[in-house]
Amino acid sequence: MEKKKFYITTPIYYANAKPHLGHAYATVLADVFARYRQGQGDKVFFLAGTADHGEKIVRAATKEGMGPQEFVDQTSEKFKELHKTLGITNDYFIRNSDKEHHWPGAQALWKKIEASGDLYQGVYKGLYCVGCESFKTDKDLVNGKCLDHDTLPDEIEEENYFFRLSKYAEKIKNIIKNNEIEIIPASRKQELLNFINEGLQDLSFSRPAGTITWGIPVPGKENQMMYVWCEELSSYISALGYGRSDDENFKTFWPADVHVVGKDILRFHAIVWPAMLLSTELPLPKKILAHGMLISGGKKMSKTIGNVIDPLDLIAEYGSEALRYYFTRETSPFEDGDITVEKFKEAYNANLANGLGNLVSRTLKMSKQYFGGHVTGDRQSSPPIRTRVAVVAALGELAGLNIPYLVMNDILPRYHNHMAAYEVNKAADVAWELIAHLDQFVTDYEPFKLIKTNKDATEKVLWCLLYGLREISEMITPLMPVTAEKIKALIGATEEGGTLSFKSTTPTEPLFIRK
Ligand code: MSP
Repeated sequence: MEKKKFYITTPIYYANAKPHLGHAYATVLADVFARYRQGQGDKVFFLAGTADHGEKIVRAATKEGMGPQEFVDQTSEKFKELHKTLGITNDYFIRNSDKEHHWPGAQALWKKIEASGDLYQGVYKGLYCVGCESFKTDKDLVNGKCLDHDTLPDEIEEENYFFRLSKYAEKIKNIIKNNEIEIIPASRKQELLNFINEGLQDLSFSRPAGTITWGIPVPGKENQMMYVWCEELSSYISALGYGRSDDENFKTFWPADVHVVGKDILRFHAIVWPAMLLSTELPLPKKILAHGMLISGGKKMSKTIGNVIDPLDLIAEYGSEALRYYFTRETSPFEDGDITVEKFKEAYNANLANGLGNLVSRTLKMSKQYFGGHVTGDRQSSPPIRTRVAVVAALGELAGLNIPYLVMNDILPRYHNHMAAYEVNKAADVAWELIAHLDQFVTDYEPFKLIKTNKDATEKVLWCLLYGLREISEMITPLMPVTAEKIKALIGATEEGGTLSFKSTTPTEPLFIRK
């Protein structure tokens, strides 16, 4: 059977400073889904990248005494380094300053939109916030100031190309209503529909070359530079080769299966991008996942505000797997999540050093001590779950309820359902539920006492624990790939003629050192 294709993207991050925790968060989320689909056998293309252009970047570069290209080369590299540290498996990293790989796509898209009659020239008079790189109306401001940046926007009057967004309002409304583009979580759908109902205005699509000094020129009109819409959104297709002769990936992978974006740029993706694609008759993305914001001290983390937690500091103290864990299990992808160093430490100690780490180490220790690390068994003869009355009731079945039965009939189906619905925190909860079951199993059977009277039964108990750990390692593979591999190597599962055996070893150091 031909593999299903799966194209997933992160936002194209502004390269105006080094990456912050919010960037790491979105990228890890996308990575978890990319890895999950890869594990399910899909043919995956996973894109990340940086938006290298705009006045925000010129200003930041000037402050550092650098030219913009030199500056973005440096910051973009920091994103790549962070991705490496976090084990991000992106297949490509697009950069908007890449004339060879990005510009042809951005300019081809512009020309197609122009050819469909959706661009016209006009004068824009109004307000502009450089911090946001966006035009502002009075309703975006409080006391005349931008909320996010606490600054007065610039008053500008300039020649622009405009995009006929208004023309697409009805179409986009129906597309969102009918889930032709599915908005995840669905609760954000109504927000978008309300916004469209208030009426969509045509958009500034370019700015004079004098106001944008660092960008992509409008094809055939060199005194205008593309504004963010065509410049940045086109990255999702230029990265696949759109507008170039080597467009195999575009043919294979477009449309995107899911764009992962922050809720603050959902409109950007669910309204403007689809309108541009409709204008050019390109297929629409299938899903847009709008995640919540990581907040710190009750405020949105932002490079411009300066309340940024450096992901590298958390990684230095706890390791990148712990950060991946926190992002995926301790915050809901669909709501805002507060992150503090204290909370992080608490979760780390409770669920990684204790929880998972402790279960792995005591199982392996008993396995080695009682059986020289060699444990064998089968599902039929594995001991029943004795005291988990709630589980028994939930499954409505008492006879034969044991760890493998529980895993196959309850744990795994729920895990996969959550993953399919992008509810990664709930999927992770299911893995930790199994950890709790296994801990309870140890409490119920007390293998450390049982070994004195019944070696055979003890082996069966240990087999269940190792079986459970194998399933846990599978479930956490997309979330914490390094830890999952370590556990797999330690338990040493082998399957022969329907018999599952373990040749386990004990680790030289704990998976997660208590902090
Ligand atoms: N360049 C645009 C995106 C263009 S996509 C074609 C941009 N860049 S950005 O660097 O400012 O932000 C990128 C993403 O980071 C957004 O999705 C935004 O939601 C996310 N985050 C920024 N701060 C964040 C948090 N504090 N928490 C979670 N995500 C956050 O916008």
